[in-house]
Amino acid sequence: MILKITQLDGSSNILKLKPEESSQLYLGREEGDFILNDPLVSRNHLLIQWSESKKQYFCKDLDTTNGTFLNGKSISNSELFPGDLIIAGDTWISVEEEIIEDDILNEIYQVLTSIPSEDQNTLDNDDETGISSIKYDVESGNTKLALRKLEKLENSFNEEKKVLRSLLEIGRMISSFLNMDKLVTFLINIIANIFDVSEGAIYINTASCQKIFYLGRKKTDPNWEQLYASEFKTEDDNAHAVPIKSKTTTFGILYIKTIGSISKNYNDILLILANNCAISLENIILYQKMEDIYLGTIRVLSAALESKDIYTIGHSERVMAYSVLISAELGLTSEKLDDIKYAALLHDIGKIGIHENILNKPRKLTPEEFEIIKSHPTIGAKIIAGVDKLIDKMPAIKYHHEKWDGSGYPDGIREKEIPIEARIIAIADSFDAMTSNRAYRKALLPIKAVEILEEGKYQQFDPFLVDLFIRLYHKGKFDSILSSSESKKEQE
Ligand SMILES: [Fe+2]
Repeated sequence: MILKITQLDGSSNILKLKPEESSQLYLGREEGDFILNDPLVSRNHLLIQWSESKKQYFCKDLDTTNGTFLNGKSISNSELFPGDLIIAGDTWISVEEEIIEDDILNEIYQVLTSIPSEDQNTLDNDDETGISSIKYDVESGNTKLALRKLEKLENSFNEEKKVLRSLLEIGRMISSFLNMDKLVTFLINIIANIFDVSEGAIYINTASCQKIFYLGRKKTDPNWEQLYASEFKTEDDNAHAVPIKSKTTTFGILYIKTIGSISKNYNDILLILANNCAISLENIILYQKMEDIYLGTIRVLSAALESKDIYTIGHSERVMAYSVLISAELGLTSEKLDDIKYAALLHDIGKIGIHENILNKPRKLTPEEFEIIKSHPTIGAKIIAGVDKLIDKMPAIKYHHEKWDGSGYPDGIREKEIPIEARIIAIADSFDAMTSNRAYRKALLPIKAVEILEEGKYQQFDPFLVDLFIRLYHKGKFDSILSSSESKKEQE
């Protein structure tokens, strides 16, 4: 470190001292390297020198009458650092580190050249603050400009670091989605936060789903899909299309049109988002396949149960179909819808423990036999309790014979104490039972069954759900279920 010694009297009396052997400066009124025009200063007043053995600067008073003061304290020989203030007589002398522009330029140049060449290309996107431009300034000795540009570059680095951190977080979140609509909605929100989008679309094209989700303020030009055909190349600088693609499969395309152009870095962000989306879609499809296999197993199980009772074949499938339509009309979440689907298929699983003679008895059941039948929701709930994935469906199975007025079984709970899944299944179950042949009676006409549901409002059934069911019935939403039920009966 080179020391810059300055006399603070406006005379700009400056001397420099280098850290090398026998480097020293004498300051005095008449003698020395630094003449101080001050009557209170001795002829030979003080010495500033570099000690090679201690690698340190020192300030030494040369036995003066008035003394030498360092930062307000009288000294004889003391270590000297940049920022110190020496006072001799009435003269103030500042001590600073000398910053040599050449050194800074050297340092900048070394930093710049240490960046790997592939990264240098990335940093050269912006001509103004690109690395080549800074190198040029350094080579031309334009330190101030080089420093300013370097500062700008650092700011953009920090900005990118922030974006990268957000991208990591986004990637983590995206991979946790198990539902395509939720994933795409999340992606749309993220894109809207990062880009100023005027229009855009996410087109998903998988074996089980072909869907377009729109984003942006404007309606998207329907021709955007042509971008898909043109391998994602676009002539419009503000239009960006990237494939949603995993290693093996293309799932769709992500297209946005921005207000103003975006840099290459932001185009890369779009690519990263599309890649994350593809990975997540791959997971969702795998999960869906697993769910389908699971649902298939449950269907086999419920069909096996129904084979005990010739009159109930297809009953659970129909109860599931009615329940899903009611739930969708209610706008229940996809998770609840799944619960209801499985619970409807398994609602009578507890009958597995009840003898076929009772299940198929053509005559009226004795009170004892009815008590046995009444145990099936509790038996069903116990069976389900042993399966982790089905635990959420337990309440629907346990309470599907509870009644709105509290007169049902097994617990006699009432109104909204009964879980909504169970209230839905209760209506679907009764309607299908009434419109199917049973051991003890012929099938009722659907319109007659609807009347009975209407009469059962407030006693057996949730009145709101009955009204909703009847509305769906009159809209013909159950026609296909009813006709499959009819064809079953004809086969019988
Ligand atoms: Fe039941």
